[in-house]
Amino acid sequence: SKPSIILGLESSCDETAAALVRRHSDGSVEVLSERIASQDDKHAAFGGVVPEIAARAHVERMDGLVKEVMSEANIGWKDIGGVATTSGPGLIGGVLVGLMTGKGISLAHDIPFMAVNHLEGHALSPRLTGQIIFPYLLLLVSGGHCQFLMVKNLGEYERLGSTIDDAPGEAFDKTAKLMGLGFPGGPAVERWAKDGNENAVELPRPLLNRKDTLDMSFAGLKTAVRRAIELEPLSDTRKADISASFQLAVADILSKRTSQAMSLFKERVDASNLQFVIAGGVAANKTIRARLESVAEDAGFNFAVPPMKWCTDNAAMIALVGLEKFEREAFDDLDVSARARWPL
Ligand code: KG4
Ligand code: ZN
Repeated sequence: SKPSIILGLESSCDETAAALVRRHSDGSVEVLSERIASQDDKHAAFGGVVPEIAARAHVERMDGLVKEVMSEANIGWKDIGGVATTSGPGLIGGVLVGLMTGKGISLAHDIPFMAVNHLEGHALSPRLTGQIIFPYLLLLVSGGHCQFLMVKNLGEYERLGSTIDDAPGEAFDKTAKLMGLGFPGGPAVERWAKDGNENAVELPRPLLNRKDTLDMSFAGLKTAVRRAIELEPLSDTRKADISASFQLAVADILSKRTSQAMSLFKERVDASNLQFVIAGGVAANKTIRARLESVAEDAGFNFAVPPMKWCTDNAAMIALVGLEKFEREAFDDLDVSARARWPL
C-alpha cells in the first residue's frame, strides 16, 4: 500500500522544526517524531525576533532536524509519502528556507509537495491530541497572531475577529524589553506580575467599549505601558506593578472578546459539544488561562489547551495539515511562492 508518512517543516518565525506524522487505520494520527530548535538565545540581545538572523539560523538547523526526526522514527526516504512546509504567513526569509527545503526533498525523492498555511496549522493543532472534534472555537494568541477562529472542518474556517494592530505576545515582549526583564518577554512579565498589584497602574483597554466587533487592539496599550514606565523611576515594586497591571489589561481584553465570540459561535454552529481551545505562546500565561477558563465555564464550553509544544510554533501541526491534504491528493506545484501575508 501507499506509504502515508508525512514530513512537515516549519520556519516562519523563530522556531526551526521538523516532524513526521502518520494516519493509523482507526483514523487516529500519530506523531512519530518531532524536533523544535528554538532561536531565543540568538534574538535575546535584541529583545525581539530579528528576521535576517532568524533566516540564517533556519538554514543552519533545518537539514539536521530532518535527519534527526527520520533517524528517531527509524525510517528512510522510501517510507515518506509526501512533504509539507509552511509557505506563509511569516517572516519571508525564514518561510523561504522551509519552502525550498521541502521543494528540494519533493524533487529529489519524487514525492508530492504540500504548501501549508501556518495559520491553518495552528487552527488544526488541537486535533493532534485526538480529543478535539469539529466544530470548535479557537483563540490563537501569540507573538504574531491574535484571532478567534470558528473551526468547522478541514478548510472551513471563519475568522470572527482579530487584532487590528499588534499581537499580545509582542506587547508582552515590548513591555519586558522596556523594563529590561529579558526575552522572551511573556514568561518574564508573568514572573514579575506575581509580586505586583494589578490595580496599581491604570491602563487602557482599547476598543473594548465597542460591542459590535470581535476585533481587538493592543497598540494603545503598548504605548500606555511605555508612558507608565517613563513616568517614574523603575523600582522593583514599580516593575512588578506595571507587569501585573499590563497582564490584567490583556486578560480583560481577551476574556471580554472570548465571551462575545462564544455567543456568536452558539448562534452560528449547531454544536452539541461546545469546545473552546486556546493556542499560541500566550496560552502559557496562567493568569490569562484561568480567566479564559472561567469565561468558558460560565458559557457552558469545555476548555482545552493542547500541550505547549503544539500551542507554540511546531512542525507536527504543519505535517498534520499536510497529511490531510495528501489524503485528498491536494498537492501543490513546485512553483508555489512564499507569502508574507496569507489570511485564512
Ligand atoms: O506561539 P509563539 O511561540 O510564537 C509566535 O509568536 O508565533 O508565541 C511566542 C509569544 C512571545 O511573544 C512570548 O512572549 C509569548 O508568546 N509568551 C507569553 C508567555 N509565554 C510565551 N506571553 C505571556 N505569558 C507567558 N507565560
Ligand atoms: Zn505561529
